[in-house]
Order: sequence, then structure tokens, then C-alpha cells
Amino acid sequence: MNTEATESVIFETIKLITMMNKKVEKALNDQIRVEAESSQAYLAMACWAEIHGFSGTAAFLYRHSDEERLHMLKLVHFVNDRGGQAVIPELKQPSRTYKSLNAIFQALHDHEVRVTAEINSVVDTCLKEKDYTTHNFMQWYVSEQIEEETLARNILDKLKLIGSDKGGLYIFDRDLESTNAALEGGGKGA
Ligand code: FEO
Repeated sequence: MNTEATESVIFETIKLITMMNKKVEKALNDQIRVEAESSQAYLAMACWAEIHGFSGTAAFLYRHSDEERLHMLKLVHFVNDRGGQAVIPELKQPSRTYKSLNAIFQALHDHEVRVTAEINSVVDTCLKEKDYTTHNFMQWYVSEQIEEETLARNILDKLKLIGSDKGGLYIFDRDLESTNAALEGGGKGA
């Protein structure tokens, strides 16, 4: 066997050893889709808020959309670095219209609850496949979801108190602008 052939065999052998478990790879690619859909959905919500005069809410949602894209990218790099191939999904167009701020944050909260279930399912696959490295990597997402669900629930609680009071909604929007600035300053995701 010549040197080139030997190198090729070594390369293929290393690839086989380091290849990602196919079930785990599929679970991670499914999660890439979920994070991409989250980013897309929050971007659409940000647009609605922006054109309806809720600039604080829009800033919060634009940042949140960016965060979700980072969550997706973190998975993309992990899959590619671990010998798999990240699949970039086609996305459905999110809703363009919302009844109210309350409807937006209810949808956001419900979406995050679904994301938590999806993440738990990835963790479950890791355990079943004995992929402890990916299990460890996924713990960041598990912690992130606790924070995201709590924040979404707190915002919804405030909106329920305000109801349709215009003055209350104006103050809510300004408060969210401050919350957003604090989150940006701390480099933390919603
Ligand atoms: Fe990345 Fe909000 O889930």
C-alpha cells in the first residue's frame, strides 16, 4: 500500500471511530430545527411589536430571536465537530398577526414549554445511547430552559395583571426595554 492509500485508510478509520451515534445525530438535528423555528417565530413577533409601537417589546424579541439563533449555531458546531453533519432546515413562515401583547407572550411561553420537552427528549436519547459527552453538552440547554420558562411566565403574569389598560401596557413596554438592556448587559438569553 502506498503512502497516500495508507493515509486514506487512517483517515477513514479515525472518521469511523469518531463518528457520532446516528440516533443522537438525528436528535441534535431535530433540535437545530427547533431552535431555528424559535428564532424565526420571535423575529416575526418582534416585527409585529415594532409596527404596533411597542419598541421595548420589539427590542426584547429581536434580542431573543438572536439568542435562539446562537442556540442553533452552538448545536451546528457541536454536531460538525463531533463527526456528524448539521442539517440546516427549511422553515415555515411564522404568523404575521397577533391579537395582543398577551397573545404574543402566551405563544412564546407555550413555545418554550415545548422546547423544554424537546430538549428532554434529546437528553433521553443520549442516555439510551450511552453518549455521555453529548449528554454533558446538553446540560447547558437544560439550565437555559429553566431560565427561559421562568422569564416567560413572569412576563405573562404581569400582562395578566395589566389586562387591556393602555397606560399599564405603556409602562410594561418601557419595563421590558429595561429588562432587555439588563439582559444585554449581562450577556444572558431570555
Ligand atoms: Fe433555545 Fe428558547 O430555546
